Amino acid sequence: MKHPISDLSTAYRYLYPRLTVLVSSGTLQNPNALTIAWSCPLSVDPPLIGVLITKKRYSHEIIQRHNEFVINIPDSSQVKESYHIGRISGRVEPQKLKNAGFSVETSTMIKAPRIKECHINLECKLKDIIPTGDHDLFIGEVVFIAINHEITDNWAFDLKKFKPIYWRQSRSTEETYHLDLK
Ligand SMILES: Cc1cc2nc3c(=O)[nH]c(=O)nc-3n(C[C@H](O)[C@H](O)[C@H](O)COP(=O)(O)O)c2cc1C
Repeated sequence: MKHPISDLSTAYRYLYPRLTVLVSSGTLQNPNALTIAWSCPLSVDPPLIGVLITKKRYSHEIIQRHNEFVINIPDSSQVKESYHIGRISGRVEPQKLKNAGFSVETSTMIKAPRIKECHINLECKLKDIIPTGDHDLFIGEVVFIAINHEITDNWAFDLKKFKPIYWRQSRSTEETYHLDLK
C-alpha cells in the first residue's frame, strides 16, 4: 500500500543518498570550501556542472566575487573532514579547511585553489547563476581536470581503488551519515 505525504517540501529526500563533493573557492591565501550534496552534470560539450548553493552560505558570496570554483571529490576516508567543512561556515571559522585537516594547492587554470588531499579536482569558471527557489544554481564550465593516476581506470575513477562519499540526510544535520555502499 502506498500512502501520500502531505508535506511536499520533503520530496528532495527521496533523491538521497547523493555523491558528496567539496567546492573550494577564494584564493590560495584565503581559501574557503563547503560540502555539497546537490551537484549535477549539465552538459558534456561544453563541459558544464551545476552546484546548488543557498544564499546564506559564505561560499555563495565568495564564488560570485571571484567567478571561479573547484569541485573536489573526497573519498570515504575523508567523511569526518568533509562533515566539518559542511557544518561550519568560513565566516565563523576562516581556517576551517586547515582545521578539518585539509590543505590547498594551486590550480592549473584558475586562481581558486584545489584541495590537495582530494584525488580528483575539477577546476571551473563560473558561467551563470540561476535562482531556483531557496537555492541558486551555480553553473561552472570545467576548464581543467586533475586526477591521481593511482585511482584512474582511464575512463574516470576505478571504484575498487576510490570510494566516493554518499550521504543520506536524516532528521537532524548531526545525524547526517555516510552510507557505506560496498
Ligand atoms: C553532507 C552535506 C551536504 C551539503 N550539501 C549542501 C548543498 O548541496 N548546498 C548547500 O548550499 N549547502 C550544503 N551543505 C551545507 C554547507 O556545506 C554548510 O552550510 C557549510 O558550512 C557552508 O560553508 P560556507 O558558509 O563557508 O560556504 C551540506 C552539508 C553537508 C554536511
